[in-house]
Amino acid sequence: MKGRVAVVTGATAGIGEALVRRLVGDGCFVVVNARRADRLDDLRRELGDEDVRCVAGDASDESVIERMLDTARDALGTPGQEADLVVINAGRGVAGSVIGSDTAVWEEMVRTNYLGAARLLRAAALRMQHEAKGEPPLTRARDIVVLGSVVGRHVSPFSSMYGSTKFAVHSLAEGARRELAGTGIRVTLIEPGFVKTEFQGVAGYDQAWFEEVMAKVGPPLSPDDVARTIMFSISQPAGVHVSDLVLRPTRQEYP
Ligand SMILES: NC(=O)c1ccc[n+]([C@@H]2O[C@H](COP(=O)([O-])OP(=O)(O)OC[C@H]3O[C@@H](n4cnc5c(N)ncnc54)[C@H](OP(=O)(O)O)[C@@H]3O)[C@@H](O)[C@H]2O)c1
Repeated sequence: MKGRVAVVTGATAGIGEALVRRLVGDGCFVVVNARRADRLDDLRRELGDEDVRCVAGDASDESVIERMLDTARDALGTPGQEADLVVINAGRGVAGSVIGSDTAVWEEMVRTNYLGAARLLRAAALRMQHEAKGEPPLTRARDIVVLGSVVGRHVSPFSSMYGSTKFAVHSLAEGARRELAGTGIRVTLIEPGFVKTEFQGVAGYDQAWFEEVMAKVGPPLSPDDVARTIMFSISQPAGVHVSDLVLRPTRQEYP
C-alpha cells in the first residue's frame, strides 16, 4: 500500500474515517472529503500534514469532485500521478419505506448516494484509464471502491427507500466493473450489514427500536471492521480482484 494515493469521501465519521486511519497507517497519501471542514482539519492535524489533504464540500458536486482528484494528482505522492484508489463512501440513510420515510431528505439522499457516486466513479475512472494507456497491463493496482449495503441486495423491511439507492449503486458498481475490467481498474463493491456509526442518527432511526434490534442480532460491526475488509480487497496484487464483499454482524440473519 505504501505510496498509493487515495481519495476518500465521507471521511469525517464512521467507515470513511476508520479507513483513512488505516490507509495513512499503511503509508498511503489521502485526500479526505466531507462537508464538515473543521472535522477534516482535526483529522489532518492528528494524522499528519504530510500525508493528508482536505477538500471540504458536497461529494456530489462536480467542482468538488474535480478538486479532490486534482488535489490528489498535484499535491501528494509522485507529482502528476493520479489517485490510484478512490473510495466512494459518502452517503446517508433515511428510516422507513417509500410510503413511510421523510420525503424532505429524498433529494439529498439520492443526490449523495447515487448521483454523487456515479459522478465520482466516472471522473475517477476516466483519469485512471487515461493514465494507464500505454502501460503494460496491470503495472500497478488501481481501485475504485463503492460502499453498497446488504439493503442494496435484499429489500429491507425497515429502510426500503434508502435501500433503493443502494440497489442502484450496486448496479453502477457492477456495470463499471464489467466495463473497466479489461483496463485493469478494479471496481469493488463493499456491502455491510449493521455498522454502528453516525448513520443511524442521521437516518432518523428510533433509538429504542435500534437497541432492540441490536439486542437480537448485535453487536453491530464497528467502522474499523469494514475498513479492514476494504484493506483486504485493495491490498491484493494487481492481477487479483476480490470484487464484491458482504459482511454482517454474525447474528444478523437478514437483510
Ligand atoms: N452504518 C451502516 O449500518 C451502513 C451499512 C451499510 C452501508 N453503509 C454505507 O456506508 C457509507 C458510510 O456510512 P457510515 O455508516 O460511515 O455513516 P456516517 O457515520 O454517517 O458517515 C457518513 C459520512 O459521509 C459524509 N457525508 C454525508 N453526506 C455527504 C455529502 N453530501 N458530501 C460529502 N460527505 C458527505 C459525512 O460527513 P459530513 O456530514 O461532514 O459531510 C460522514 O463523514 C454510506 O455510504 C452508507 O450508506 C452504512
